Amino acid sequence: MNVLVIHGPNLDLLGTREPHVYGTATLADIDARIRRVAEALKIDVRTVQHNSEGAIVDELHRAAATVDGIVVNPAAFTHYAYALRDAIAAVGKPTIEVHITNVHAREPFRAHSVTAGVCHGTIAGFGAESYCLALRALADLLRR
Ligand code: DQA
Repeated sequence: MNVLVIHGPNLDLLGTREPHVYGTATLADIDARIRRVAEALKIDVRTVQHNSEGAIVDELHRAAATVDGIVVNPAAFTHYAYALRDAIAAVGKPTIEVHITNVHAREPFRAHSVTAGVCHGTIAGFGAESYCLALRALADLLRR
């Protein structure tokens, strides 16, 4: 089972980016945690981070031929990036949307996701654990 985890813009700054909001774990810490969970679930996982929408769209296109499922934290693109929504829909792989924070408890613009509607489900608000929960949910879905 091959899973791709995509981290969107500014998530490369985790650890120092607004730690009162996002915590102090770095992206490397989160990726290490993802790899541990993937190993336990017997999933082959690859994690990538991109700051530009086009790079994420390209990544999704490549994933169409190589992965069984996708976990994506589109970060701020969540709220307005229609090309990303279209790419997730076009690729058609089971995809789980993830957010570190509870986007519904923050600024009103964060409560709206243009990508969630083409994802199987969304997990938000559990910090780095959101990614692990998403991996478990995806593994369950793919094995069903
Ligand atoms: C985020 C929430 C988004 O609103 C924000 O733009 C991010 C991170 C999260 O993981 O909580 O960059 O996706």
